[in-house]
Amino acid sequence: MTVKCSVFIATSVDGFIARPDGDIGWLGEPDENEEDHGYERFMASVDHLVMGRNTFEKVLSFGIPWPYDKPVVVLSSKPLQIDEGLRKSVEQMAGSPQEILGQLAKRGAQHVYLDGGDTIQRFLRAGLVQRLIMTRIPVLLGEGLPLFGTLPQDVRLRHVETQTFSRGLVQTEYEIAHD
Ligand SMILES: NC(=O)c1ccc[n+]([C@@H]2O[C@H](COP(=O)([O-])OP(=O)(O)OC[C@H]3O[C@@H](n4cnc5c(N)ncnc54)[C@H](OP(=O)(O)O)[C@@H]3O)[C@@H](O)[C@H]2O)c1
Repeated sequence: MTVKCSVFIATSVDGFIARPDGDIGWLGEPDENEEDHGYERFMASVDHLVMGRNTFEKVLSFGIPWPYDKPVVVLSSKPLQIDEGLRKSVEQMAGSPQEILGQLAKRGAQHVYLDGGDTIQRFLRAGLVQRLIMTRIPVLLGEGLPLFGTLPQDVRLRHVETQTFSRGLVQTEYEIAHD
């Protein structure tokens, strides 16, 4: 069975997901009445999250209650400290994107939310991403952690839709053309 992988991420207009030190304050706080840009609908469509260690550590650094109600796989090649309270829903894996999806397929995963720049790049290089939903924040950062990186070959995208939101946010959805 094939596991579908989707990306739902915010970037600066020059393509960064965080400042060089990992800061994401520039994403801005949504207004109380602002819509969620399709986040809840997207979350409802996935059954697992797969995120890189850096993203996991960033989420923990917020010091807020764990925000996910789906199983989360954190990718790291190093031993990872996972708090007792999270061990039921968070586990560590390492390996190639194919191996990781293979393990998830065995337990019935169908749709994975991929998060973290490096993680997304590794899955893109492996040809294992099906959908990209990118919300561009109207700012140029000049430097930072990039969403995209080197590729073994071009990745053709099919435009699905583009929506604009308040604060000048522009969200574009692409499907990866695997033909
Ligand atoms: N703008 C947004 O919407 C958004 C969304 C998500 C994250 N972010 C930000 O982006 C930053 C994190 O992104 P990032 O590019 O640094 O990377 P990341 O993907 O979060 O983490 C990268 C790390 O994940 C591990 N990893 C990834 N794939 C692996 C694999 N197949 N096997 C084993 N380990 C693997 C490696 O950890 P080890 O070195 O331990 O092996 C790697 O160094 C944070 O600042 C976060 O706040 C922003």
